[in-house]
Amino acid sequence: MASDSDLKSFLRKLPKAELHLHLEGALCSHRVAELAKKYGVELAHAEIHQRYNTRGFAQFLELYKWATSFLREPDDYAHLAEDTCSNLREQGVVYAEITLSIGVMLLRKQDVRANFRAIHDVFEEKFRAAQGPRIQFVFDAIRQFGQAPAKEIVELAAEHRTSGVVAFGLGGDELSLPLADFQPAYERAASAGLHLLVHAGETGGPDQIRDAIDLLGAERIGHGIAAIRDPTLMTRLSQRKTPLEICPTSNLRTNALNIQLNATDVSLIDHPLPKLFRAGIPISLSTDDPAMFHTNLVDEYFHAHQMGLSLDELLQINRAAFEQSFLSPEQRAILLAQLKNYRPS
Ligand code: ADE
Ligand code: ZN
Repeated sequence: MASDSDLKSFLRKLPKAELHLHLEGALCSHRVAELAKKYGVELAHAEIHQRYNTRGFAQFLELYKWATSFLREPDDYAHLAEDTCSNLREQGVVYAEITLSIGVMLLRKQDVRANFRAIHDVFEEKFRAAQGPRIQFVFDAIRQFGQAPAKEIVELAAEHRTSGVVAFGLGGDELSLPLADFQPAYERAASAGLHLLVHAGETGGPDQIRDAIDLLGAERIGHGIAAIRDPTLMTRLSQRKTPLEICPTSNLRTNALNIQLNATDVSLIDHPLPKLFRAGIPISLSTDDPAMFHTNLVDEYFHAHQMGLSLDELLQINRAAFEQSFLSPEQRAILLAQLKNYRPS
């Protein structure tokens, strides 16, 4: 490909799937400013800027808590869904699995059903009008909040299975509570026919990934970059074909990359993505919390190229994202058929 800008424009047009995207992490600073105004909260521009430009996992969780405190009614979630839908479309995403922090809604004693309806209806309407990607949802619990809300979230996810909720997931602070605490919630989720996701091996060690698989039956791992520290685990992930949802910029900004590489001054090109991919572990590329990490999916593919992946390898990763998705076989085949026309010139 002639230039970086040719590559980016090819990547933008390529129909893509994104599997690890938190709706609340797509809440941009402009929308926060607007919501603060709506609710009569005075916010200095400098404060917003400072909160959106920190580094470190604890700082990120603090930003997430603060920014979502301005999402107070279904209409706020609807606007966020509209912003997210148009950004996904602009990025060439034709299918996304969007994670909703139901744990945060419950903490704030919000009406989860009404929030979900508002979010769902926006995406559904845009999809039907051919103005947005096909979307399915993941209902996420937050690890440090414990197993009681997690169980409530599983029930809510099960209730909404016919409205596009395909999976139950667990995010938040990996170092807070052991995954064994969540076994009953995951057993119930599996029996309700939900797919099972876990954030593991982001800031925690390889043991978190093993527990996610062995104790909870995780079908895909959110991040999972700690696997790089454990060759036996890498072999196991490759043999059992357990996908990792890789989010490079997120890993840089939360310092997960520093932690896993045991180094202080790492950059994106040090990311273990190429090693994981070339070890035969199924991976996909995502943005995680694009507004909070100042990234987008095209940039993530471009970063992967800068890490040394060829265009052909990028195309393999994109195709794999559709294959690792929770689409029905019929819908998957329809979307995969679209890829045939996209070959580099
Ligand atoms: N929730 C939103 N983004 C997250 C991340 N990167 N890790 C854990 N929980 C999250
Ligand atoms: Zn995440």
